[in-house]
Amino acid sequence: MILEARDIRKLYGAYVALDGVSLSIREGEFVSIIGPNGAGKSTLINVLTGVLQPSGGSVRFKGKDIGGIGTVALTRLGMARSFQLVQIFPELTVLETLQAAVVSRLGRGARLFASLAGDSQVQADALEVASLFGLADKAHALARELPQGDKKLLDVASAFALRPEIILLDEPTSGVSTADKHAIMEILVGAAKRIGLRAIIQVEHDMDIVFGYSDRIIALHQGKLLADATPAEIEADARVVDMVVGRRRH
Ligand SMILES: Nc1ncnc2c1ncn2[C@@H]1O[C@H](COP(=O)(O)OP(=O)(O)O)[C@@H](O)[C@H]1O
Ligand SMILES: [Mg+2]
Repeated sequence: MILEARDIRKLYGAYVALDGVSLSIREGEFVSIIGPNGAGKSTLINVLTGVLQPSGGSVRFKGKDIGGIGTVALTRLGMARSFQLVQIFPELTVLETLQAAVVSRLGRGARLFASLAGDSQVQADALEVASLFGLADKAHALARELPQGDKKLLDVASAFALRPEIILLDEPTSGVSTADKHAIMEILVGAAKRIGLRAIIQVEHDMDIVFGYSDRIIALHQGKLLADATPAEIEADARVVDMVVGRRRH
């Protein structure tokens, strides 16, 4: 078991955003979290990545309690999520964005911009990640000028540049065309294999992507765990289909 959440409860004031949610992520799994708006998906990701301290219950990553420990500490432990480095540094190029992620992993933050150009390890590392994500020929393009699909790829690539063991992605393909969604997922899965990622957890609304790539699907509804099962089992569960999945066209 790599990641385990037990009986998670999260309150915002008196509002119960998560109520008794338990889940386990095992070696090699690709897990999708689905649910309608307001179901608690982002809250769950924030709890699982140590951004939010749960009001009750516990989260363990590689056996360690990580409730509220924060992203910096969690990155060191080997967990990354798709944070919007792209939005934090809109004026950086693709390569600089990846370099910033590599630098943060190597703990060279204080010398960030002074050292970037001359640091060959950082350069090589960033270029390798760019290639892995098919972004090498756009290495010198400004992040904000990229098409949406490439922005999403860069976002995910930034998380990969942290060399995590597991990764959590909040809608890695949102806002892009169906064709681009599949291209992004193929690149993501290929990159995950190449760097030996131990698990992928994503929040995703596109059911073709969810059912096409997941080993397991976790459905949330009004802060509660509605289902935790294989795609085939979920598809056969009329209640989950009605409440969360919707009718899919084949
Ligand atoms: N910081 C917050 N303060 C108060 N309520 C919040 C906060 N964040 C989320 N909520 C509420 O908690 C519920 C779950 O939100 P969220 O986890 O963002 O759901 P989802 O990602 O599934 O759309 C929603 O009703 C939302 O309005
Ligand atoms: Mg959300």
